[in-house]
Amino acid sequence: MKTGSQVIIRPARNVRGSVQLPGDKSVSHRYAMLAGIAEGPSRLENYSTGADCASTLGCMRALGVTWERKENVVEVQGRDLALAVPNIPLDCGNSGSTMRMLSGIVAAQKFTSEMTGDESLSRRPMERVIRPLSAMGAQIASREGKPPLRITGAHLKAIDYKMPVASAQVKSCLLFAGLFAEGETRVEEPLRTRDHGEVALQAFGAQLERKGNEVRIRGGQRLRGIGARIPGDLSSAAFFLCAAALFPDSQLTIPNLLMNPNRARLLDILMQMGLRISVTQLDEIHGELVGSLQIDGARLKGATLAGADSAALIDEIPVLAAIAPYTEQGIEVRDARELRVKESDRIAAVATNLRLMGAQVEERDDGLRIPGGQTLRGAELDSFGDHRIAMAFAVAALRAQGETLIRGSEAAAISYPAFFSTLEDMTER
Ligand code: S3P
Repeated sequence: MKTGSQVIIRPARNVRGSVQLPGDKSVSHRYAMLAGIAEGPSRLENYSTGADCASTLGCMRALGVTWERKENVVEVQGRDLALAVPNIPLDCGNSGSTMRMLSGIVAAQKFTSEMTGDESLSRRPMERVIRPLSAMGAQIASREGKPPLRITGAHLKAIDYKMPVASAQVKSCLLFAGLFAEGETRVEEPLRTRDHGEVALQAFGAQLERKGNEVRIRGGQRLRGIGARIPGDLSSAAFFLCAAALFPDSQLTIPNLLMNPNRARLLDILMQMGLRISVTQLDEIHGELVGSLQIDGARLKGATLAGADSAALIDEIPVLAAIAPYTEQGIEVRDARELRVKESDRIAAVATNLRLMGAQVEERDDGLRIPGGQTLRGAELDSFGDHRIAMAFAVAALRAQGETLIRGSEAAAISYPAFFSTLEDMTER
């Protein structure tokens, strides 16, 4: 990846057009992992173009999985649960999803794997997977609960686990491990998080039981490869939705977007704030809802995000916070402490950049309070090496007075390499 790139964003008058998004990152990771341990081939169309999902494919190759990629179609030859001894470390790059979810699969193999990551990933907490996987029988060495991880697989025993943090990555990790374990694994989460792991396991033929915030999976089940078109990434769409929300005359269409109800809370919140969104052509592919959106701009009211909403919107909060000063009443975010341990400390990054643009911001331990009705000025900002911070502030810059420079803009490629050129194409000046 290029390092040290920067972009300049000029103020805009409007956002208009149609944007077709690359496949959802959460779904792409899970499909690539499950395709690798399934029996037979899988064909994954519209696979995420982000570097994170390429990291997952790289790790699967190191584990003996053969795959071929032609543009955004990935064809994977499954290895029917048995992966090969990797003779290089599994390089997860910037991707917490890769490290956390894949650890559930390598913990069940008959060999030792080394999992590494970049500087940002090396600072992120892994004890949330180390503790339950160790209880299932794996041996895991880490640097005080942080990467690199050295995982010696075992014949796992099922676990009954109440997760202390709401994390879809941890839930998927344990369900993937449960697939290999002896007995029935039960995972309970404190708040409902995205269920792509459960939906993907079922798509590949596994049986699960889901009740409220609890999922059970029996060990010893085998998976079958699938042919799938991955729906467009909702968290990438968030940047365009929020950009459209800045201008009352915006008009945007987004076809083939992931509409999984556990991910689509952003649409409800933006509609409550005044954005007009209509959904057409609702469909279901391998258990995931897909729809096309028609969006018309508005004057945005404010919002308060707390509790289950903060968990459901965890990836969208940076961009919502970045546009908060332009709303009428502002935005308050509570119960979002997890933002401090993402690719960057996203609460601090948002507060720093907004202040550089002249905004008033109250930073709290678990969130932010950003008053509305503010006028921002263009400024020199940093991405903090975080893709969502780079993209969130490109959106905020569209309504600022004067130009904004964003350093470290190459970070956007972690989830969406074409972001800046697509935003430019959609912007009227
Ligand atoms: C993800 C879950 C969320 C999210 C991340 C992707 C997933 O993290 O922030 O970008 O695909 O399961 P946590 O599960 O750690 O909250």
